[in-house]
Amino acid sequence: MAKKAQATWGGRFSAGPAELMLKFSESVSFDSRLAPFDIAGSKAHSAMLAHVGLITAKERDAIHAGLDAILADVQAGKFTWSTQLEDVHMNIEQALTQRVPAAAKLHTARSRNDQVATDMRLYFKAACTDLIQRIDGAQRAILGIAEANADVLIPGYTHLQRAQPVFLAHHFFAYLEMLQRDAERFVVVQDHANWCPLGSGAIAGTTLPIDREFSAKQLGFVDAKGRPRVTQNSMDAVSDRDLYIEFASACALVGVHLSRIAEDLILWASQEFKFVELPDAFCTGSSLMPQKKNPDSMELTRGKSARLQGNLHTLLTLVKGLPLTYNRDLQEDKPPVFDSHDQTAMLLDVLAGTFAGMSVHRERCATAVADPALLATDLADYLVRAGVPFREAHHAVGAVVKVAEKKRVPLDRLTHDEVKNVHAKFGPDWIESFQLEKAMARRRGTGMPGPAQLKRQFARWKKLFG
Ligand code: ARG
Repeated sequence: MAKKAQATWGGRFSAGPAELMLKFSESVSFDSRLAPFDIAGSKAHSAMLAHVGLITAKERDAIHAGLDAILADVQAGKFTWSTQLEDVHMNIEQALTQRVPAAAKLHTARSRNDQVATDMRLYFKAACTDLIQRIDGAQRAILGIAEANADVLIPGYTHLQRAQPVFLAHHFFAYLEMLQRDAERFVVVQDHANWCPLGSGAIAGTTLPIDREFSAKQLGFVDAKGRPRVTQNSMDAVSDRDLYIEFASACALVGVHLSRIAEDLILWASQEFKFVELPDAFCTGSSLMPQKKNPDSMELTRGKSARLQGNLHTLLTLVKGLPLTYNRDLQEDKPPVFDSHDQTAMLLDVLAGTFAGMSVHRERCATAVADPALLATDLADYLVRAGVPFREAHHAVGAVVKVAEKKRVPLDRLTHDEVKNVHAKFGPDWIESFQLEKAMARRRGTGMPGPAQLKRQFARWKKLFG
């Protein structure tokens, strides 16, 4: 049953791990995606070893050439990953050993603990750039449909009850704000990732004369002025998993935002609302009911947001009871991180595709927003302008609504006499409160949905997206 002792750490063992243990403990099936970062880390590390004289320039060059060849194999899909060798680090080291004798010196003053911490920090920097770009793509698609329907008004909702009229673009701009905050969060995570843990060793650094700042610079762990940023405590550096949690948290919040957007679109695509038509390319049909067109892309968005929250929870729980420093439990930190990255990337692309192919049922929106009740607050403001205290005005308009309901007519079908009976300050021009265009024009303060503000926001977003 037992295998040959493991090459990299097998010295003190007389037998290798059981087949089951290999299957149980391997991580190469998921951490092989770290290969480009692992190779970059090893190149920087060997460059540093040569710089301080622990290996020769010739040995460094042989190691670099070997690592470049391995990277080319990995990228061409020609590299054979072996679960026998546990993880990405030992697979690459072993492959290098077969190519260059100097490979035996590569792991000088390094542990897999600071190695994996370095790989992951490099990975996070790239993953944040990737997601920031995809957020940008989703935002552009939203801006596109907002522009194509810049004149469309819809009822805004609170409690899912019609509240006040807004431009559809104003509603879409709310999505842009949410996504903008998401992008900013990834910028922060990226900055937190920008510290080099290499040189922390397994837990307590090394007795050899390494140059941590040199390695950090090689790998781009530098501040705005190009000064190296290296972690300040070897024990924290190998056991810290804050970044993983921050990244998963940023993904989970993207998920929450996209889920809310999805819920809007699911409602709006229903026969009951019918404000929008979702693209066929992002909908599916029913195997039984021939008439159905289901908003599956948005439903799955809602569903996958649960998964992103689950990944965050997994990471929080994984770390919470661990004594310092590295424990093998920490290998389980990667699947939830990678899953959050991959799913968030797909969610953003699907949102972009759904918005890009969506059309707006303008007549349905116009009918819905024509409801005069949406301007009841404007009617109260009318009284306020006539000097009535707002609470009294609110009460009076409430009474007007009651009269209209009793007569079973829309608010704007009451006569001047009928409303004057409710409050003496209703003049003959009371009815002008229901002129939608005027009502919108009055909402001119910063952040409000009036046409002047809408223009400003279009300009702001367009400038941001170039
Ligand atoms: N595959 C391991 C992980 O992902 C690498 C670190 C292994 N370190 C150790 N001491 N066994 O966590």
